[in-house]
Amino acid sequence: MSKILIIDDDVASCRTLQVHLNSQGYEVSIAHSVGDGLQAAQNAPDLIILDIRMPGRSGLEGLPEFKQLLPDCRIIMITAFHDMESTIEAMQNGADDYIHKPIDIEELDNAISKLLINHRQNGDLLSASSSNPGTLTMVGRSRGMKEVFKTIGMVAKSPATVLITGESGTGKELVARAIHNSSKTPDGPFVAINCAALVETLLESDMFGHEKGSFTGAVSKQDGKFTLAHDGTIFLDEVGEMSPSMQAKLLRVLQYKEFTPLGAKCAHKTNARIVTATNVNLAERVQSGMFREDLYYRLQVVNINLPPLRERKEDLIDLIQVLIGRINKELHRNVSHISRTALDALEKYDWPGNVRELENVLMKSIALSRGDTLSDDLLPTQLRQHKIAEKDNTKPLERCSLEEIEATHIARVLEATNWHKGKACETLGISRPRLRRMIKHYHLTIPEQFHHGEDDDENMSS
Ligand SMILES: Nc1ncnc2c1ncn2[C@@H]1O[C@H](COP(=O)(O)OP(=O)(O)OP(=O)(O)O)[C@@H](O)[C@H]1O
Ligand SMILES: [Mg+2]
Repeated sequence: MSKILIIDDDVASCRTLQVHLNSQGYEVSIAHSVGDGLQAAQNAPDLIILDIRMPGRSGLEGLPEFKQLLPDCRIIMITAFHDMESTIEAMQNGADDYIHKPIDIEELDNAISKLLINHRQNGDLLSASSSNPGTLTMVGRSRGMKEVFKTIGMVAKSPATVLITGESGTGKELVARAIHNSSKTPDGPFVAINCAALVETLLESDMFGHEKGSFTGAVSKQDGKFTLAHDGTIFLDEVGEMSPSMQAKLLRVLQYKEFTPLGAKCAHKTNARIVTATNVNLAERVQSGMFREDLYYRLQVVNINLPPLRERKEDLIDLIQVLIGRINKELHRNVSHISRTALDALEKYDWPGNVRELENVLMKSIALSRGDTLSDDLLPTQLRQHKIAEKDNTKPLERCSLEEIEATHIARVLEATNWHKGKACETLGISRPRLRRMIKHYHLTIPEQFHHGEDDDENMSS
């Protein structure tokens, strides 16, 4: 019978887990602090479930001692926090898995059975930790994002080339920076280059540098990004857009760790860690002959795929919180609330532009808002239209009262005319006083971005 030790200061949660795991056939013991846990670990458990936040020493602080005492014991960390840093730190300190509270029993069962069946692979990748204060926090509680954080923790310290894939705005650059910040050289430079933004000669010179006079306009010798990224990380964004000849040059860097500046006679060595990203399907490009297969395999030694936001809506609240925090700082604002209807609209929307679009929407709405609450009338039309459409979909027309249909229709016409009341009256075929009465009757509020002046009614003169 496998032995499991649960270390958590929450007595009730320990008991619940104990009952459950006993029923699964494990022998379970309990401790409520790191100190007690070290005592209890004398009876050599096969697996420890270790809470991070505990009074006294935290689970993260205790982790190395448990690893030292019981090198073969598997450790699952648990925490109520959904931040990337503690996940990465835990994985780098040798945790085998990481589960968020409230614990999903099925997830825990799967993790335990996987760890107790699999033989432990020795992870020298997972040595000392580093967390860089002052860097952007990356959040996400979805299964997909937790996998992303775990992979970052496992590969960051190794020199392996990483390919980050995902739709536009899903956080690829943030992942690249997180890899750098958790790498062996977090104090070294992080140098980003967009492979799609430049014409070929400029890209080559930007990446590898050039000698004086090597092309028209090369008035002096210049170092390239690979030189600047020495002892650090180079991030090649939109790598799928590289021309065939640049692909050949990049392949050489990956194979021989060397490159030749434009016009130079001899090659230079590089020790930069290479991280790449793309939002196109590289495998398809390989199929259609646009991307070299040998390069593709070298780039995706490790692949981190970021799921689109619409497939991980459970991340929305955390994202909204950190993004509003960042925007408040940037705009010197103090928005601390979001109305239920605004949140509903954000949750219903599909986010084709992913986290970047969410960030832009929040930025615009906060810029337009006056108080400390973000309300739905400040949200851009595409989200509000979505909301109206949703409303219609949830209730078939034949079940709606005339009033409901009228209210929805007036709201829709006002949206479509950007609250230009003259145009709205024309479409609706009613007088302005009547429209005014209806707006009041149905409690329709004019979004702030359509406020034209002191008195909007005076401004509908067109
Ligand atoms: N999980 C996350 N937590 C916090 N912020 C995030 C997260 N994912 C993305 N962001 C933020 O969203 C914005 C877009 O992210 P990023 O630039 O990394 O996306 P990208 O995939 O590189 O986009 P593109 O394909 O358009 O280049 C950034 O401001 C980033 O900080
Ligand atoms: Mg990007």
